[in-house]
Amino acid sequence: MRCKLFFFLVYGWVCNLFAQTSASNLLIPNIVRGPYLQIGTANSMILKWRTDVNCDSKVWYGTSISTITNQITNASLLTDHEIKITNLNPSTFYYYMIGTSSTTLLTASAGQTFKTSPVIGTKGKYRFWAVGDAGTGNVTEKTGFLNYIGSNHIDGWLWLGDNAYNSGFDSEYQTSVFANNTYATELKKFVVWPAPGNHDYNNNIPFSPPPAYLDIFTLPTLGEAGGLSSGTEKYYSYNYGNIHFVVLDSYSVPRGVTDPMAVWLQNDLAANNAAWTIAYFHHPPYTKGTHDSDNPNFLDGELPEIRQNIIPILENNGVDVVINGHSHVYERSFLVDGYYGTSSQLSPSMIKNNTSGNYPSSCPYQKQTLINKAHKGTVYAVVGCSGQTGVTASGWPHPVMYSYNNILLGSMLVEVNDNRLDAKFITSNSAVYDGFTIVKNAGKKTTVNICQGQNAVLKPSWPEPVYWFPIGTTLDSAIVSPPFSTTYFAYDPNSCIKDTFVVNVTPNNVPPCNITALPNYDPALEVSVYPTMIRNKNEAFTIRTFSGAKIEHVKVLDIQGIAIDIYSNEQPMNELNIYFKNEPQNGTYFLELIIDNKMIHKKIIFNK
Ligand SMILES: [Fe+2]
Repeated sequence: MRCKLFFFLVYGWVCNLFAQTSASNLLIPNIVRGPYLQIGTANSMILKWRTDVNCDSKVWYGTSISTITNQITNASLLTDHEIKITNLNPSTFYYYMIGTSSTTLLTASAGQTFKTSPVIGTKGKYRFWAVGDAGTGNVTEKTGFLNYIGSNHIDGWLWLGDNAYNSGFDSEYQTSVFANNTYATELKKFVVWPAPGNHDYNNNIPFSPPPAYLDIFTLPTLGEAGGLSSGTEKYYSYNYGNIHFVVLDSYSVPRGVTDPMAVWLQNDLAANNAAWTIAYFHHPPYTKGTHDSDNPNFLDGELPEIRQNIIPILENNGVDVVINGHSHVYERSFLVDGYYGTSSQLSPSMIKNNTSGNYPSSCPYQKQTLINKAHKGTVYAVVGCSGQTGVTASGWPHPVMYSYNNILLGSMLVEVNDNRLDAKFITSNSAVYDGFTIVKNAGKKTTVNICQGQNAVLKPSWPEPVYWFPIGTTLDSAIVSPPFSTTYFAYDPNSCIKDTFVVNVTPNNVPPCNITALPNYDPALEVSVYPTMIRNKNEAFTIRTFSGAKIEHVKVLDIQGIAIDIYSNEQPMNELNIYFKNEPQNGTYFLELIIDNKMIHKKIIFNK
């Protein structure tokens, strides 16, 4: 009996093994997750995807849909695939396909592209999409947002935490994030830069096994996309054009000012020279929605800690905008600074600008940061309403908030164009419920010196629209040629910002315009002689050309034009020291200079 049982067990094991081997040889893998895009830089992109069976990995890519000829293969047999493409060009769209070494699993299509980042520091018009607490499976906010932006590309997708409800398990990411009816299409073309929320850690620290979040996402730990190495995927920074983004873990790591995250944050921001800095993380410093930032107790204790320990570091280093989730509402502050207390401790002096900042219906918030960027004001937004909305806490609305709503689902569009930032809360109906604009270092006074008849090109200190006075045009720059000195002004349409241009006009035949106005003017012959009078033959005249042209030959002529000294330079230079060879009589002399085969004369005086 025992012998018979053993036979059946062995037979069953062999059959099962054979069946598995045959299946893996015969099955064509299916992509069950992704592809999705990670750590985009100016010359690299990471593609990740999951297959239902182990297989090798292959990516094809190219700059047009008909030239997807570049290939990268990884021979390892995997279900979770990751390939980094390098040597890409900045600010360039690439089409791609996904597959194995033997077959294509995802063919090319018009919308299946990624775009590399611009070279760090480059100004441009960039768009970012911030979604908070979105991982519920309800994606109506996505529909509203995509309808609003139309065919415009999104340069970065900012996830504010609680990305997959209710526990951040891999299976929940699968159904609420990667499924075709959630974000699969957008994940193929927009680079995701996530922050973790408490639900990504199952509301439980320590989390065992480690949260799926850290396996699913490949995030910069070494400053791969700009910023300082954090050494962890939990918090990190990156650059996009002229913007520095800071992403924090407001839940699973200590939030004290001497803890590693705050120390890294301080160092990262101290090294940051970007024109704009945007920080985002899950727990908001100010909220009266489904969470209460006045509450220091369980489930809300992170909020005052963030406000008291992290916000001062951000404001000391000139952070412009902070975006959070966690509270399932929309809240957006005035331009504020130095507010680290509870809702009852807000004082008027902490509000740098008490208007809406809603442009163009009102004036934008303006910041002057060229000399010192610290404490010039920050706008705080809570966008925890991308997947659900909720009740409000006692004291709603929080007094620091200009705009608030706890009914509308939506997400935030952040557009940066040079020194102008526009942020809008876009509802699931594609309506703009709220928005604010920040303009930096605009409103300049500039002086331009021209000669009569020359043009002066005037450019405003902010991106258009602009109105020129007294010219009357609305072009993004003005070319003027006034007959006499004139002052011009550039205004935005609401007269919120004003540039002043003083154009000083020098008539021709008045220095310095008379020289350049001469028909045979040659800049090579611009020469200085110093001093022009000496009292001792051992003193030297220093002769130097402005243009760097070489002085080939020098004679000293007396008043009658007779050469008394001759100097020939075997190695012509643009600077010479000339002495009288013999002591002359007091009087006027001339230096005769040959430069570029042309002759000029300079008067000198010997007066013993
Ligand atoms: Fe949360």
